[in-house]
Amino acid sequence: MYLALARKYRPQRFADLIGQPHVTKTLQNAIEMDKLYPALIFSGMKGVGKTSAARILAKTLNCEKGPSSEPCNECAVCKEITGDKSPDYLEIDGASNNGIEEIRSLKEKVKYKPFKNKFRIVVIDEVHMLSNSAWNALLKTIEEPPEATYFIMATTDFHKIPATIVSRCQHFEFKRIPHEVIVTLLKEISAKEEIKVTDYSLYLIARAGDGSLRDAKKILDQAYAISSGNIKDEDVISILGVIEEEIFIKLTKSILNKGRREIIEIINNLSERGMDLRFFYSEYLKFFRDLLVLKSLQDAEKLHNLNPENVPKIKEMLKNIREVELLRYFNAAKDLEQTMRNTENPRIILEYLFLKLSYFPSLTSIEEFIEKMKPDSLPRTENYRPPYEAAGIEDRGGAAPAPAVEVKERTAPAGSSGNPGAAKESPEETKQDKKTKKKEKLNEPGNDDKIHGLTDVLKGKLVSIDSIKGEQNA
Ligand SMILES: Nc1ncnc2c1ncn2[C@@H]1O[C@H](COP(=O)(O)OP(=O)(O)O)[C@@H](O)[C@H]1O
Ligand SMILES: [Mg+2]
Ligand SMILES: [Zn+2]
Repeated sequence: MYLALARKYRPQRFADLIGQPHVTKTLQNAIEMDKLYPALIFSGMKGVGKTSAARILAKTLNCEKGPSSEPCNECAVCKEITGDKSPDYLEIDGASNNGIEEIRSLKEKVKYKPFKNKFRIVVIDEVHMLSNSAWNALLKTIEEPPEATYFIMATTDFHKIPATIVSRCQHFEFKRIPHEVIVTLLKEISAKEEIKVTDYSLYLIARAGDGSLRDAKKILDQAYAISSGNIKDEDVISILGVIEEEIFIKLTKSILNKGRREIIEIINNLSERGMDLRFFYSEYLKFFRDLLVLKSLQDAEKLHNLNPENVPKIKEMLKNIREVELLRYFNAAKDLEQTMRNTENPRIILEYLFLKLSYFPSLTSIEEFIEKMKPDSLPRTENYRPPYEAAGIEDRGGAAPAPAVEVKERTAPAGSSGNPGAAKESPEETKQDKKTKKKEKLNEPGNDDKIHGLTDVLKGKLVSIDSIKGEQNA
């Protein structure tokens, strides 16, 4: 049995239109104050209430008991519009009637007063599909609107509507419906219809609906149809072809715990189940994106798509890992997108990826490495000095023991150059002068010493592991 929940539960009053209070409020105010534009744009993704709102608006404007902020839904006029039988309510599909001829014939239709009602409502759905000439024709109509007629242009692609049209319309933006709102509504409907369904199934359905109430209701219909009223999680999972979040969690745990055997087993299981591993990979990326959101944002509740029931468990799993580290995992996984698409053998790539990630917990991050290399954290015995000190390089970090090599002053001692004490070059100096100066500088005793000091270090004389050991043993 097919319930067609979407049709059965189409909102009939503004109050029933879920998740669009900004739209309904503004519309109701405009109606009450008689300030509604003759041309309106309803934009937003599919299944969020654009057409429903247009019908409610048509009824509210024409209701025999009106004008008020809601239709009565009882009078003949309301019933006619609800039943799709009103000659003064037109719905045109802009995608299949997108030429100038269609707009011209529409103009013919709206030339005269409405047949019965106070107002005529013309809804052009998918209006962004109109051809250029059709737009021009429509623009003229909007500029000189026919009497008692409202145009509602509905679209999923607002940016495709010409600016000349937009500037003459009142724009209403319909929002994607949040998951938890969809879950609540589906729960109410299930209770009314006496459908048995778990919270988890509803959550999966809402997630698959991806903000569209129509889609969510359709999926609930399908699940109902194959389960005869008692919807099991497995049914929903198989309808949606989704991967249980538990698998992602288990896999991530294995990576963080370096459980390489488990990793191979999980992938093996998926493969045996006939799972499309490329699909698995792309879903895992989405899951990992959610982990990043959860880890890096304070109030992440509405911004991730994780099953709320799993969130505490996931937070616990990520307790000891920092955001930057998670980013490294994500990068490594994302890097394989192209490879994954092109490979003949996604299983090998997947195994490689997850095994590789399982080595990440043992690898030190650059930040940690730098931290470890700070002088204070280096091992220090009485005679051991870190190489930079031995080389005569100043440690700006703090108190270090005196360097082994005496650091000579940088200026050359008097007498070592033909121009003693002259720090700056005089403007008269020739190129030749500079060359000789360079040569002389190399022969300065100070530099010489320094070079010895460095070579000693480089040769390992001062700081070779052996010498440290020797000194320690002595
Ligand atoms: N905001 C909403 N509140 C309640 N139900 C909705 C809402 N949006 C969509 N629906 C459901 O989805 C169906 C289709 O909605 P519709 O208004 O045609 O969406 P759109 O025109 O935006 O694609 C409705 O019959 C209703 O069951
Ligand atoms: Mg619609
Ligand atoms: Zn009415």
